[in-house]
Amino acid sequence: MVVVTGASSGIGWLAAHTFAARGDTVVLAARSAQTLGEIAVECEQRGGRALAVPTDVSDEGAVQALTRRTVETFGRIDAWVNGAAVWSYGRFEDTPGPVFRQVVDTTLFGQVHAARAVLPQFRSQGHGVLVNISSLYGRLSSPYVAPYVAAKWALIGFSDVLRQELRDAPGVAVCTILPGAVDTPIYRHAANYVGRQVRPLPPVIPPERVVAAVVRAVDHPRREIVVGRAHHLAAWAHRLVPLLYDRLVVPVVNGAALRDVPVPVHDGTVFAPDPASNGVDDGWRRHDHRLVATILPTAAGGAAAAAAAVALSRRLP
Ligand SMILES: NC(=O)c1ccc[n+]([C@@H]2O[C@H](COP(=O)([O-])OP(=O)(O)OC[C@H]3O[C@@H](n4cnc5c(N)ncnc54)[C@H](OP(=O)(O)O)[C@@H]3O)[C@@H](O)[C@H]2O)c1
Repeated sequence: MVVVTGASSGIGWLAAHTFAARGDTVVLAARSAQTLGEIAVECEQRGGRALAVPTDVSDEGAVQALTRRTVETFGRIDAWVNGAAVWSYGRFEDTPGPVFRQVVDTTLFGQVHAARAVLPQFRSQGHGVLVNISSLYGRLSSPYVAPYVAAKWALIGFSDVLRQELRDAPGVAVCTILPGAVDTPIYRHAANYVGRQVRPLPPVIPPERVVAAVVRAVDHPRREIVVGRAHHLAAWAHRLVPLLYDRLVVPVVNGAALRDVPVPVHDGTVFAPDPASNGVDDGWRRHDHRLVATILPTAAGGAAAAAAAVALSRRLP
């Protein structure tokens, strides 16, 4: 019996299908009520039982109600997958305060509210797995995504603390998943204050790989699971050579994540869902090879420029 938040799109949608296909009961939570109802039908067609419970995870009362409804209906909760998130693209100074707050309220506090609601249930049952989907943006940073990066870094620390405090409950586990760039509609859903269309930084991994990690975490809980080797390497670069990383990340993101397609600024799905744009993936992997051809020269050029700047600065009095 698994609760999945963010079940109306991307990784959450595919996770719901996957749990249902192996006969699990799934409770689906997100804001898009009609989409959730359709996905619940698809889950039942795949062999599972499903209940759609429209929920705004940034509202603590709504998350408590979701938990109560699940326990009243099914008697227990074996696992809870926290997948709901929103994000925004824009320089910090161009990002409206309420947008920053709502990204954090959804992406961090949505998971905090879930932990507060479900951990007492896990303790009383003597078992349960909480899967928090963070991101490799919780181990590295990038311009234009300040609220999302703040939320994802905080979520990793929050999950660590929960694990430490749950050492007295050996049947209860907390697992953090850290994916790199995944082919889902999240890039289309993002609020935009840069005025250019955004896309994931390649290489983009399919949502199936993240969902496989989520299922693995539920069946065999582990502390952390990283999905996506290339972005994992970038996280190591962020840690080992932070000054060089800071110099390179701006040209790489400007060249590879911002497209030369102007778009009006908009709030994306930060405050309200856009069910028409939900889906399991968004076709980003088809463009990957062209983007890798862009990103490599940009990174190489940036590294050469950074090395030259460092050499020059050493020669100046
Ligand atoms: N795609 C990537 O590159 C990537 C990389 C690393 C980590 N992740 C993480 O993976 C998880 C899933 O993201 P995704 O890529 O599948 O994105 P997605 O396709 O945009 O799905 C996001 C989900 O969150 C739900 N949601 C948004 N605001 C909500 C709210 N206030 N209350 C309840 N549900 C809300 C959305 O549904 P409604 O709009 O219907 O509410 C949707 O179901 C997120 O935690 C994301 O940060 C994604």
